[in-house]
Amino acid sequence: MFKDLKSLRSQQCSESISELFEDDPNRADMFSVRFETLLFDYSKTQITAAVRDGLIELCNRQNVAGRREAMFEGGKVNETEQRAVLHTALRDPGGPELIVDGEDIRVPLRATLGRMERLARHVRSGKLAGPGGPFTDVVNIGIGGSDLGPVMAALALAPYHDGPRCHFVSNVDGAHIHDILQRIDPKTTLVIVASKTFTTVETMTNAATARRWVESGGGDPARQFLALSTSEEETADFGIPREHVFGFEDWVGGRYSVWGPIGLSLMLAVGPDHFRAFLAGGKSMDNHFRAAPWEQNMPVMLALTGVWHNQVCGYPTRAVLPYDQRLRRLPAYLQQLEMESNGKSVAMDGSPLPHPSGPVVWGEPGTNGQHAFYQLLHQGTSVVPAEFLVAAKGHEPELEQHHRLLVVNCLAQSEALMRGRSLDEACALMRAAGFAGTELERQARHRVFPGNRPSTTLIYPQLTPYVLGQIIALYEHRVFVEGVILGINSFDQWGVELGKELANSLLPLLAGVNGDAGKDGSTRALLDFVRKFKA
Ligand code: F6P
Repeated sequence: MFKDLKSLRSQQCSESISELFEDDPNRADMFSVRFETLLFDYSKTQITAAVRDGLIELCNRQNVAGRREAMFEGGKVNETEQRAVLHTALRDPGGPELIVDGEDIRVPLRATLGRMERLARHVRSGKLAGPGGPFTDVVNIGIGGSDLGPVMAALALAPYHDGPRCHFVSNVDGAHIHDILQRIDPKTTLVIVASKTFTTVETMTNAATARRWVESGGGDPARQFLALSTSEEETADFGIPREHVFGFEDWVGGRYSVWGPIGLSLMLAVGPDHFRAFLAGGKSMDNHFRAAPWEQNMPVMLALTGVWHNQVCGYPTRAVLPYDQRLRRLPAYLQQLEMESNGKSVAMDGSPLPHPSGPVVWGEPGTNGQHAFYQLLHQGTSVVPAEFLVAAKGHEPELEQHHRLLVVNCLAQSEALMRGRSLDEACALMRAAGFAGTELERQARHRVFPGNRPSTTLIYPQLTPYVLGQIIALYEHRVFVEGVILGINSFDQWGVELGKELANSLLPLLAGVNGDAGKDGSTRALLDFVRKFKA
């Protein structure tokens, strides 16, 4: 499928990104997309007009438009689970009738959002309180999509927090819940158990621990526990009264669920109005994704840049580098969104995938990353496409100089990756520093930057709830478009199951109940080590 693009790449690879700019000083206009207040610049890549045409052709060939409309209209695009994929409906509660399995899903969706908002108002005003008084703290217990979305968004929107403090417990490692509970009051804490299935072992273990903590601390679990789940049966079995359960349907995938009940902790922190603005931002990106021609379609061009770098150029990873401290969990959030969605080996029809699946996604906020792993980005032997994000303006006018430094560092990094430093330039530097002869060249070689390393930059005015909604929806649709082009199902996650099954089979072995017979030598030796230490 990528043959033509690969041959185009080999024909034009002699021309560096810097040379493309020399040929066309307007390149930044030609190879960028604007939508509302966002600007996505992909001009610092080797994408040319011919490459873009070839990439766009992939969208047509793979029927991205058809699949996109099927998704928005409730088709069962998650074919292996026979489910619709409608997280987009969560951010459009006032939209027109949308029938799924014979029912207009907007009706319950609006009712649930209304209940969430009422609850949030009551908790935030103190009308709804714990036995010790108004709720001072909220603990969201969840993992994967039931954690990463709310925690990422709550950190991102810290300037808008005016509700109770929010904490997030995900890891089954007891250290996680221990370190949080020891700082807060069991009589003024609201515990939210967030789990689509309400069977995830990490979450249920942490929820049981939190319940014991509330009980033994003089609290009242009947008043202090809420559940966010698709399973009425499981939440009832856990003892959460129905009026404390905020349900959603199986057409909301875990990693796409922050827009609905799973976002309740975010709503409690920033309030219903800011939560609505977050939804409105997501919806604006949906409308753009559905209407804009491919070339001016931000999610599509972000996806095509990803396909170009991964499937065509063969770069197996990409770094997400937010120059925005409050987006520090965005790389982790995108790891789940992108790698759980597109990390597959078979096509939708079950045949082996004839090309690489989605890339490894990783990253850290700038400028911190600059002092850690950027060395490899600039001089290592692997090329890692970098995806920068930065706001034009921060939320701290009194710290404007900090923000200026943040922005110039972000721009400097993409420029340095592209330009590099030649041996001649490095030699000149060493000569000026007093070196001569063979030592000059030896020293200079260490200071050469190959350059021609691609990057993109997403720039936005300020990280408001609306803009955050736009950014998250942008990435969701990017993953969708990449998945359609690759011909895979981006909405299942069978690859997480085997490890869960094996963990269950190991639990009795660790306790010494069963023998280790069926296990390999390494696993037996590791079990043995743990047993000896525990004894
Ligand atoms: O194990 C992976 C996964 O199923 C994710 O897809 C999901 O977001 C996470 O676990 C949590 O699942 P749940 O919300 O059902 O607890």
